[in-house]
Amino acid sequence: MDFRGDDGITRRMAVLEQRVQAMRDIDCYFYNQPVEEVLGGSKVIVNGREMGMYASYSYLGLIGHPRINAAAKAAVDKFGTGTHGVRTLAGTLSIHRELEETIADFKHADDAVTFTSGYVTNLTAISTLVGRGDYVLSDKLNHASIVDGCLMSGAEFRRFKHNDMEDLGRRLQQVPDGATKLVIADAVFSMDGDVIDLPKMVEMCRKYGAYLMMDEAHSVGVLGKTGRGIEEHFDMWGSVDIKMGTLSKTIPSAGGYIAGRQELVDFIRHGSRAYIFSAALPPGQAAAASEAFKVILDEPWRIEKLNANTKQFIGGLKGMGFDTMLTTTAIVPVFCGADERAFALTQAAQRNDVFVLPVVSPAVPEGLARLRATVLASHEPGEIQRAMDIIGKAGKEIGII
Ligand SMILES: Cc1ncc(COP(=O)(O)O)c(C=O)c1O
Repeated sequence: MDFRGDDGITRRMAVLEQRVQAMRDIDCYFYNQPVEEVLGGSKVIVNGREMGMYASYSYLGLIGHPRINAAAKAAVDKFGTGTHGVRTLAGTLSIHRELEETIADFKHADDAVTFTSGYVTNLTAISTLVGRGDYVLSDKLNHASIVDGCLMSGAEFRRFKHNDMEDLGRRLQQVPDGATKLVIADAVFSMDGDVIDLPKMVEMCRKYGAYLMMDEAHSVGVLGKTGRGIEEHFDMWGSVDIKMGTLSKTIPSAGGYIAGRQELVDFIRHGSRAYIFSAALPPGQAAAASEAFKVILDEPWRIEKLNANTKQFIGGLKGMGFDTMLTTTAIVPVFCGADERAFALTQAAQRNDVFVLPVVSPAVPEGLARLRATVLASHEPGEIQRAMDIIGKAGKEIGII
């Protein structure tokens, strides 16, 4: 195939190439930079330079934890590096069941089922649960994997205003009587760091007889006294029907899960295409994930430190005059406005060894570009202060504050 004709694919590739090149020309292409080494929980080597890591999802600093590494190595020694295929046939290992029981226990659920990525988990779970004739209602700022799952399901797809439960109520009211309804939201929003209003959402779902699914990618290890997530945060155990989460953020592995009542998990295990037609999670990753849930419970100081660090980071940036939007969690957007300002702030930060990344359109609406900084339990207060000093100095020079 010659990609030089006058066709849609060629045109789209050319547009992308021009955009990337324009960023490279001004030394502002920050994406896909290889991390060459991970040094402890809060530092990395990038381009040969040691940098403070402020772009990680490893909120509790568990990447490289000795117990988790040891569990992964032991599983590789015992099971090898791959599985024998899909779970339903020869791919289920005892370590998969151990992981699923650990997740179920952690999330106060009857059972859990795992997949090889969080993205795939949303795609397959939503499209297994609802289909043509059903209604799925999704927060406007939900993650792309939720949006894609809703579209793939073929259900009527409705989006409600971000974290606006009155709007959710109005939209639920418009659903024809007798139709199956599924409401889905991120527990903590991945670009903004704010927390869903679970109490009001549950009220609406109960009023209109809708199922509730929560994506806990950014709330496990972050919300709740013991890091168990959104239901623990609001002391509302049992209020979420479909508890979705990832194994790639606080849990330093890869994969995703659905936890919930036994009949739900059994249904997804036997009915979801990603479970039946895609190979199982590799043994090392399954063992690492399993051990990580145990480490979270054994080392509660990590959550306390994350909370203290989050307070310091948000409070410090706000004190300098930055707009950190609605965040109350470890995801801290630093509002810049125009894409160019976000690029300039990132450039200044990275040149001073603060590894942080910009989020620009189309990931966020035009004019709402930001740094999407994250703070971790493994950062020390002095490191956070240094990062803030650098971001603050650059913010003044660029005219953001
Ligand atoms: C809210 C949310 N859900 C799902 C995913 C997908 O998870 P994974 O990266 O494990 O595929 C992400 C990843 O960024 C996310 O932020």
